[in-house]
Amino acid sequence: MPAQGHPDSAVNVTDNPGATNSADAHASTRIPPARRAKLLLLDLAAKTCRYLEPPPDDVINMAESDPKTSQLFHEQYFPTSIFYTDLAESAALNLELVRHIYAWKSEDPEGIVRSNFKQAGSWHSQLDMHEKPQFSALTDQIIKAAVEVFSGMNYDMDFAPVIDNMWANINPRYGYNRSHSHPDTLWSGVYYIQAPENCGRISFNDPRSQAQVYTPRMGANANTDSSSWSEVYYGPIPGRLILFPGWLVHEVEPNLSTLEGDAGNRISVSFNIYQSSTRSG
Ligand SMILES: [Fe+2]
Repeated sequence: MPAQGHPDSAVNVTDNPGATNSADAHASTRIPPARRAKLLLLDLAAKTCRYLEPPPDDVINMAESDPKTSQLFHEQYFPTSIFYTDLAESAALNLELVRHIYAWKSEDPEGIVRSNFKQAGSWHSQLDMHEKPQFSALTDQIIKAAVEVFSGMNYDMDFAPVIDNMWANINPRYGYNRSHSHPDTLWSGVYYIQAPENCGRISFNDPRSQAQVYTPRMGANANTDSSSWSEVYYGPIPGRLILFPGWLVHEVEPNLSTLEGDAGNRISVSFNIYQSSTRSG
């Protein structure tokens, strides 16, 4: 489960932390249907493109110019979305992936170096994994998830997700990935194939660096309100697929598994996705 900075605080995180609070704010003022269209126009004049159409439940956030009571509205903008899914019945898929990845490594033992810590023996494959037929089952699952992400983000679905590059990672004991982002891409992701206990979590930091200039003392609900977190950790569970914006800075903890040999390796696949520039169909 995603968790805040404390290792034991396993707490759910929403894809859009601002959505719930924003909906609460919109539920503040009930408007009779007859007045709704007029007020909608007023609202559009006050806040450009605020609504494309009236909310479905006859509720609209419209402050009167001289209200009878004062009310403080809480709205949140510019959220950072992270999507994840645990692939169903992934054990058989992962067995095949492990076999093909080790075969790939034996053909190209040097691999390449990016954010991986080569000195610890971490292996990073070449970037054309998505073009290799032996990995097509996983590639298909990634594209399927990316379509859902694009839909969830309200992208124009006529411009399909395309995998730009994709690679395998084998991180033995003490292997880790330095803090980094993925330039020149729209969405990035990771899929976990083998993840022994204590093999290292991936973490994402609040991209608003200036938000850390002054950190207030937080109340008791802060641990369960992901919108107030400054970092979030995801456990490396085999079969878990995580997608995040390519610009979002992240890193991976060192693999501290005590298992000997290949059983102690953290094996994962990473990828970058862009939006096709040509309309499909
Ligand atoms: Fe990365």
